[in-house]
Amino acid sequence: MQIRPLRPGIEIISSIHWERRLFDALIPLPEGTSYNAYLVKGSAGTALLDSTDPVFAKDFLEVIKDVDTIDYIVSHHTEQDHSGTLPDLLQRYPNAKLLCSKKAEELLLSHLPIAAERIRVVADGETVSLGDKTLQFLYTPWVHWPETMSTYVPEQKCLFSCDLFGSHLATSDLFVTDPALVLEGAKRYYAEIMMPFRPQVGKNLAKLAEYPCNLICPSHGPVYNDPALIVDAYQKWISPRLKNEVVLPYISMHGSTLLMVNRLTDALVRLGVTVHPFDLSVTDIGKLATTLVDAATIIVGTPTVHVGPHPAVIYAATLAGMLRPKLKYAGVMASYGWSSKAIEQVAGAIANLKPEIVGTVQCKGLPTAATMAEIDALAAAVHKAHAADPNVLA
Ligand code: FEO
Repeated sequence: MQIRPLRPGIEIISSIHWERRLFDALIPLPEGTSYNAYLVKGSAGTALLDSTDPVFAKDFLEVIKDVDTIDYIVSHHTEQDHSGTLPDLLQRYPNAKLLCSKKAEELLLSHLPIAAERIRVVADGETVSLGDKTLQFLYTPWVHWPETMSTYVPEQKCLFSCDLFGSHLATSDLFVTDPALVLEGAKRYYAEIMMPFRPQVGKNLAKLAEYPCNLICPSHGPVYNDPALIVDAYQKWISPRLKNEVVLPYISMHGSTLLMVNRLTDALVRLGVTVHPFDLSVTDIGKLATTLVDAATIIVGTPTVHVGPHPAVIYAATLAGMLRPKLKYAGVMASYGWSSKAIEQVAGAIANLKPEIVGTVQCKGLPTAATMAEIDALAAAVHKAHAADPNVLA
């Protein structure tokens, strides 16, 4: 870990978590992640923006040991991967004021051992002068907690956006050098953290568009010296436009469901619909979440275990419901031995998405010719729904 310059008077301290492989004990991190803090040094003051995950606290305190004075510590977001080292920093810098949004004050006091008198709430739009640099605080709520805030430095057209625009990518590069890799990590991050708040993300993008920007400094992943890369990607992800794609999570225990999945996949491909099958016994649930960002349809395939769907299928369906993707169509395929309520239970797990159910197929034991015909009809119904929907890209 080290302090590295980004622009005159703006420095980054990135805690690169190369080996982390799971975020929130939920989403796999094939490329690791990072937690970025920033120093803004003006002619009349210095501010530290965010801190780091507690696992890096010792390294962080070591790396800033030569920074004699910090006047302000800004907390954009209370989640501990950014705030977890604030108590140590407030101890190290006893004269520093902790600046945060009104909502963050309450959250910081309930999450961390911080004395209330150290906190100074800043209003939306308020500015704090550091001499030749200004910190302007912009409330950006629900990206992805209610208290989230960004900071804009107008002199250098630089936005510190915290989680918003972040990417799960451990890299020693300061700036984006591999746009495709960064966008993959950013989309994985968006899918888990931001997608449930798509309308609020849109409002914040509109608000931030008022602030011209040539550098976006997120709290995860590399810095964007071409902000349009990530802003345009976010605009696409939150737009109502859908891809002509089906996400097909499934489990197969004895092969019947797999036969159904293969038949549906072939039928959809023949109709020109892109399919993403995910065998949930081996799949990266983060990749599944990422694919849900754009797809128009989800079809779930499950065997029956004790009358209900396989637990891994219920998990995936529940996750899909929780992440609130913009998909509009759904279907369920289930196989069973002697009795099943699997279709109703899977449909119930995604009911909050209010999808149009384009079809369901159920088979006892091995799929028959009649089952395959039903699956072909399901594929045709998906194709028809996509073709008739002006929001589905051809
Ligand atoms: Fe990166 Fe919501 O914490």
